Amino acid sequence: MGRFEDKVVVVTGAGSIADGWGNGRATSVVYADEGAKLVLVDRNPDALAHTAELVEKHGAKCITVTADVSDADGVAHFVDAAIEAFGRIDVLQANVGIGSIGSLLNYEQSKWDLMFRVNVTSLFLAAKAVVPHMKRTGGGAIVNVSSIASMRSVGQPFAAYSSSKAAANQLIRAIAVEFAPDNVRCNSVVVGYVDTPTVAVAYRNLDTEARESLQHDRAALVPLRRQGTAWDIARASAYLASDDAQFVTGTEIVVDGGMTNAAPHS
Ligand SMILES: NC(=O)c1ccc[n+]([C@@H]2O[C@H](COP(=O)([O-])OP(=O)(O)OC[C@H]3O[C@@H](n4cnc5c(N)ncnc54)[C@H](O)[C@@H]3O)[C@@H](O)[C@H]2O)c1
Repeated sequence: MGRFEDKVVVVTGAGSIADGWGNGRATSVVYADEGAKLVLVDRNPDALAHTAELVEKHGAKCITVTADVSDADGVAHFVDAAIEAFGRIDVLQANVGIGSIGSLLNYEQSKWDLMFRVNVTSLFLAAKAVVPHMKRTGGGAIVNVSSIASMRSVGQPFAAYSSSKAAANQLIRAIAVEFAPDNVRCNSVVVGYVDTPTVAVAYRNLDTEARESLQHDRAALVPLRRQGTAWDIARASAYLASDDAQFVTGTEIVVDGGMTNAAPHS
């Protein structure tokens, strides 16, 4: 028996920015492997369709919902679709997130507002919409996909991204306490350097040598001497969402190969 037999799991950002395994796609497949019924949500229908194909190959039932989750109507759309298809929501994997680098001094307010809308408001709206359903069925779990940038500098000017992720971590801690009596557990997976399509997209204009050198440098900063993969994030998320973590709420699991705890160049 998988840990998510008879459970309904919603994954936001279940597509991927480009071909390959983004965190939302890999996490969807891990939940599928463990018996979940899935509600896959993304604003990109093609990326979503590809994840649905993979999930179905793993034997899971799923529906797809194309929606912008930073918008209340988009959130209502996927929650209604989940309830209509499966009658309940046991897990919210709040994976959607965007990032951009930029110095405070020339970061436009419109970019700041968008970052907070996608990284924080989406979590507020989704949690507000799913918690009543979780309460109705005796409990549930929310997993927020965060970043080590929420806790420390990662060597780049990341003021907007890092503060949005820090706000989401604290939102999760606050609602964990508020809804603990309802058996709704809320936690974050704090992601370190992982080699996902997002990184490939960020480096797409570099030549092969420069790209390999940057990838080598990222791995060298990690005490375990490799970047993580989307599967590392997926497995930590599934733990937090499962009954294995039934006494774990209002906290973070840092999945970074030891990076946040290391001295520079250790
Ligand atoms: N990839 C990394 O190196 C890394 C590192 C730290 C944290 N993270 C976090 O992991 C999460 C997933 O990152 P990833 O790189 O795997 O993602 P990704 O960019 O590959 O995929 C995210 C998906 O979210 C969708 N999306 C974006 N905005 C949306 C919106 N408003 N509504 C609906 N869908 C939307 C995109 O279409 C995409 O399919 C994010 O929260 C990110 O901040 C990633």
